[in-house]
Amino acid sequence: MATTLVKGGTVVSATGRTEADVLIDGEKVVALISPGTTPLGTINADTVIDATGKYVIPGGIDAHTHFELPFGGTEASDTFETGTRAAAWGGTTTVVDFAVQTTGTRIQDGLATWHEKAAGNCAIDYGFHQIMGGVDDDSLKAMEGFVDEGITSYKMFMAYPGVFYSDDGQIVRAMQKAADLGLLTMMHAENGPAIDVLAAQLYEQGKTDPYYHGIARAWQMEEEATHRAIMLANLTGAPLYVVHVSAKQAVEQLAWARDKGQNVFGETCPQYLYLSLEDQLGATGDPTWGNFEGAKWVCSTPLRSKHEHHQEHMWQALRTNDLQMVSTDHCPFCMKGQKELGKGDFRKIPNGIGSIEHRMDLMYQGVVTGELTLERWVELTSTTPARMFGMYGKKGVIAPGADGDIVVYDPNGHTSISAQTHHMNMDHSAWEGYEIDGHVDTVISRGKVVIDGNQYLGAKGDGKFIKRGLSQYLI
Ligand code: URP
Ligand code: ZN
Ligand code: ZN
Repeated sequence: MATTLVKGGTVVSATGRTEADVLIDGEKVVALISPGTTPLGTINADTVIDATGKYVIPGGIDAHTHFELPFGGTEASDTFETGTRAAAWGGTTTVVDFAVQTTGTRIQDGLATWHEKAAGNCAIDYGFHQIMGGVDDDSLKAMEGFVDEGITSYKMFMAYPGVFYSDDGQIVRAMQKAADLGLLTMMHAENGPAIDVLAAQLYEQGKTDPYYHGIARAWQMEEEATHRAIMLANLTGAPLYVVHVSAKQAVEQLAWARDKGQNVFGETCPQYLYLSLEDQLGATGDPTWGNFEGAKWVCSTPLRSKHEHHQEHMWQALRTNDLQMVSTDHCPFCMKGQKELGKGDFRKIPNGIGSIEHRMDLMYQGVVTGELTLERWVELTSTTPARMFGMYGKKGVIAPGADGDIVVYDPNGHTSISAQTHHMNMDHSAWEGYEIDGHVDTVISRGKVVIDGNQYLGAKGDGKFIKRGLSQYLI
């Protein structure tokens, strides 16, 4: 089996940093070697990667992606092939995508479809959460097989009535089952029926531009739903993971429940740390600004107003562990033919932002600005996702026995973000013009170098399905 030595770098983990060389044999890490110790001189690796002056970190894990998601009358524009390749470019070596049951379809069929979409197409390893779009006797029975299938988390929606939405009764039934089975309940916490009323009222008042998406999805709708999800989880004993948290009031709810000892977790996404509702107004501050450009940033939960200081609160929550993870909620749609479906009616803009390629870089900015330590950067983007979703040991750490998923990150490098140069299948970038300190230099996925400087060396089919175990935060 081929051996790879990553030499001369600073190995960063969630708990510390050390000067060490990392030896990979085949697909696995076999040793961390202190520089200058005897064995090093005797190793003749097939490939030697010089990491001098660079950080050597476990490959990123993006636990919230939507490839090929049918949504808003169209389909997310990244396939498993294009999306996982873009992930690799950005230093992510594992994704957990959402297999979909839309309301009115069978959950088993949804999972089978997701396996068909992904198998043989991924550049990096992948797992699935299961979206439950219809809680009924059949889908509750199907949950009993999830663990054997390696699917140990599932998502429900308090938003999107008529598409993915579950009412409180359905949520209680699913949570009861999840509590029995040890599954992690992931929740899209926004009050969908109330939002739909507000959105219709805005539309009738002639307020049809993308900006009004965020006005309709007010923070009160997120706070209320987050609280309700917490209470339903408390009632049923189900552990809860709230996805794409954007409102500071929702974080307060999570912190309150955690302080009481409830098993409640939350993720945020780069868009809620950097972008704001005001971006959708452009420089003129006018909702009708530009050529429908505000649609780029339409996602749910929505971007929040910078005047309400949500962003500062998100960064703080990442530091204090009131929020535990950063995922992208990568859900890309092109402007042409997709986002523009909502011209004249913001309710019809497909919801989603694409960031899979930029998560590691964007979060590294937190280290640059002093918001995060290097260790916390690794923890938020790799180690906690591995633990949360039952992959730790294999993923999320550089240690003997772990998969050889490694990123060599250059803190002195530079990254410019543009739709002209990104690898995601999108005709625009929500991050256009961002200039980032740091650069993903080398990416190794299960022992294979897939990114070498500016070269992609991977192939579709390199990535394998991961049968995940139960969340390691709950056992
Ligand atoms: O805007 C978003 N988040 N689109 C993807 C679907 C979801 O709710 O996660
Ligand atoms: Zn969601
Ligand atoms: Zn999502």
